[in-house]
Amino acid sequence: MLEGISEKQIKVHLSLYEGYVKHTNLVMEKIRALKEADAEGNAYIIAELRRRFAFEFDGMRMHEYYFEQFEGEKGGSRESALAKAAEEKYGSGENFIAHIKEVAGSRGIGWVVVYADPRAKTLHTTFVADHELGQLAGLPVILALDLWEHAFMVDYVPAEKKSYIDAFLANLNWSIVEKRFEDTIYMSAA
Ligand SMILES: [Fe+2]
Repeated sequence: MLEGISEKQIKVHLSLYEGYVKHTNLVMEKIRALKEADAEGNAYIIAELRRRFAFEFDGMRMHEYYFEQFEGEKGGSRESALAKAAEEKYGSGENFIAHIKEVAGSRGIGWVVVYADPRAKTLHTTFVADHELGQLAGLPVILALDLWEHAFMVDYVPAEKKSYIDAFLANLNWSIVEKRFEDTIYMSAA
């Protein structure tokens, strides 16, 4: 059970996610079939489908990051590598959360995405409007906050977006975010 995000809201949102999974597979199948049928004659259609792929794939993967964050026993530690990185960049854990809220307050629909940057050994908190555009190249997503209206409008009206953001943060299992961050450290050391 989540606080401030209803079962119906999650159900509606999960069915949208299932659409992305279905269409990710469908786009790949269509490309294969069109290629086999007439690669030259279908070249424009294939190229457009390849452009389309990131919309479906990123829609699928971003929602996986999103829903996973609500799973398990809520945790989080001030001693974690993430807490230390957040303190270094934002001054404190509280400032990091305040910064996420500030970015989430951006006008319009999209996502707040926190990335680990293993090369620069820091974090980046950005606003990604269309999930297939504007993601930071090659950086692992450690936190994804869906701010499309479908993510909260079963429970809240648009003017109540702040309450949804608070509910998201209240339900967020920080141990998962920490684990994602630690995995990127491991990746960069390998
Ligand atoms: Fe969504």
